[in-house]
Amino acid sequence: MSEHEPRTTGQQFGRRSWAEPWKIKMVEPLAVTTREQREAALEGAGYNTFLLRSEDVYIDLLTDSGTSAMSDRQWAGMMLGDEAYAGSRNFYALERAVFEHYGYQHLIPTHQGRGAEHLLSRVAIRPGQWVPGNMYFTTTRLHQELAGATFEDVIIDEAHDPADLHPFKGNVDLAKLRALFERVGPENVAYVSLAGTVNMAGGQPVSMANARDVHALAQEHGVKVYLDATRMVENALFIQEREDGYADRSIAEILLEFCSHTDGGWISAKKDSLVNIGGWLAVNDQELFEELRNQVVIFEGLHTYGGLAGRDMEAMAIGTRESVQDEHVRARVGQVRYLGELLSSWDIPMVQPIGGHAIFLDARRFYEHLPQDRFPAQTLAAELYLDSGIRSMERGIVSAGRDAAGEHKRPKLELTRLTIPRRVYTQAHMDVTAEAVKAVWDAREQARGLTMTYEPKYLRFFQARFEPL
Ligand code: F0G
Repeated sequence: MSEHEPRTTGQQFGRRSWAEPWKIKMVEPLAVTTREQREAALEGAGYNTFLLRSEDVYIDLLTDSGTSAMSDRQWAGMMLGDEAYAGSRNFYALERAVFEHYGYQHLIPTHQGRGAEHLLSRVAIRPGQWVPGNMYFTTTRLHQELAGATFEDVIIDEAHDPADLHPFKGNVDLAKLRALFERVGPENVAYVSLAGTVNMAGGQPVSMANARDVHALAQEHGVKVYLDATRMVENALFIQEREDGYADRSIAEILLEFCSHTDGGWISAKKDSLVNIGGWLAVNDQELFEELRNQVVIFEGLHTYGGLAGRDMEAMAIGTRESVQDEHVRARVGQVRYLGELLSSWDIPMVQPIGGHAIFLDARRFYEHLPQDRFPAQTLAAELYLDSGIRSMERGIVSAGRDAAGEHKRPKLELTRLTIPRRVYTQAHMDVTAEAVKAVWDAREQARGLTMTYEPKYLRFFQARFEPL
C-alpha cells in the first residue's frame, strides 16, 4: 500500500478474513484517466459528480442503486420474460417472492422506488396532513410534499451526530412521534413513513423492538405504518448482529418478522433486490390496494407490469430470493465494513457505526475551515474525483434543498457518500479507494470550497452546477 500502512486483513481487526461468495464470469473494463482529463471532465460537469459521464469515472461509488451485478440465474431468468401486456407469468413469480419474503398480500410493481412513493403519497395523503418519518429521503419526502403533506423528522437525536455509536441510529424517537400525534391530532397524520437502514443517516438500522413499538403506538392512534424496505435486507443483518434474541435467526426470518410490524411497504428494487431497474409497492389492506391498483394504470402501466418488462420482473423475483441469503448479505455489508475499518484505522472522520450500503465521510470534520455555504461535502466529492477518478456523492446541504421561505435547509450532517454497488467491486478496489480518500484527507487544508452557479427547483443535487472558489 505505497506510503501508507501495510495491507489490512480481517485478522488485524480481530476476525477471520472473508471472501466474496461469488466468482467473476464476465468483466467490464474500467476507464483509467489522467488528472488533466479529470479536471476537464469535472469542469464540464459543473463540479457535480451526477453530471459526469460514466466513461470518465474509474471506480463508481456514486450509488448502489441499479448498479448491482446480476447473477447467472438472474440473466437466465431474463430469457424467460413473458412479455404479455396483461397477467405475465413473471408478475406472479414476483408476487410470490415478495409475499414469501416481505409478507405483504397485494403487490403493485412500479418502474422504480419513486414510482411507488408517488402512488402511495397520492392515495394515502390528504392535503394538510403530516407524515412523520425516521429522517427524510429526498424523493420520498418530495412526493409526500407534492401530495400536500408536511414531513416531520422523528428519528432519535443520536442519528444527527456522526460520532455517536448507538447501535440502532435509525430508530424512531417514540416521544417525538407521540408529541406529533398530540400536537396535530392523529386524524391529521397520514401515516408513519418508516425506513430500514436510514440512507441519509448513514445507512443506520432500526431495531426490531423499535419497529414493534412504533407500530403499537401508531395502532393506538389509528394510524398506519408504511415501510421503505429499500435496504431492509441490510437492516436485518444488523438486527442479527446486534439485537438480543436474533443471533440464531436467519436474515429471511428477521426480514419477515420486521415487515409484520408494518401495514405495507415499498422498495426500490435497484438496491437490495439486485436488479438494474424496478420497484414495488405492497399492502395488506384490500381497499387501499384497489385504489393503488387504479392509480398505477395512470402513471406506470397495467397493474401486472407497472412500467417493467416481464423479464425485469423475473430478474427481480430471482434477485429477491438471492438477496436474503445470509452469506450474500454478510459479504455485502462486510465489504462496506472493510473499507470503513481501513479508513477508521487512519482516523479519517466518517459516520459511525459503519452503515450497510456506504461509507459516509464527515465533510464538516474534513474541512473544518469551510462553512456549510461553501458546500464542504460537494467539495470533497469533487476533490476525490480529481485525485483518483473515484465518483462519490454529496449528502449534505445541497441534497437537503430549500425550505418554504427559500432558505437553504441546513442539515447537521454534511456527508460525502462512497456507496458500494453489490457484487461489482473486489477488495482490491476497496484498498485503492481507501488510499485515494487518504490522499484527499492529507491535502484537506488546501480545499477552498465551491459556489453554486445553477440551481434547479426540485432535487437540486442531481443537476446543480458549481464553480471553485
Ligand atoms: N428510498 C430510499 C431509501 C432510497 O435510497 C431511494 C433511492 C429511493 C427510495 C427511491 O428509489 O431511486 O428507485 O426511485 N436512492 C438512490 C440512492 C437514488 O442513490 O440512494 P428510486
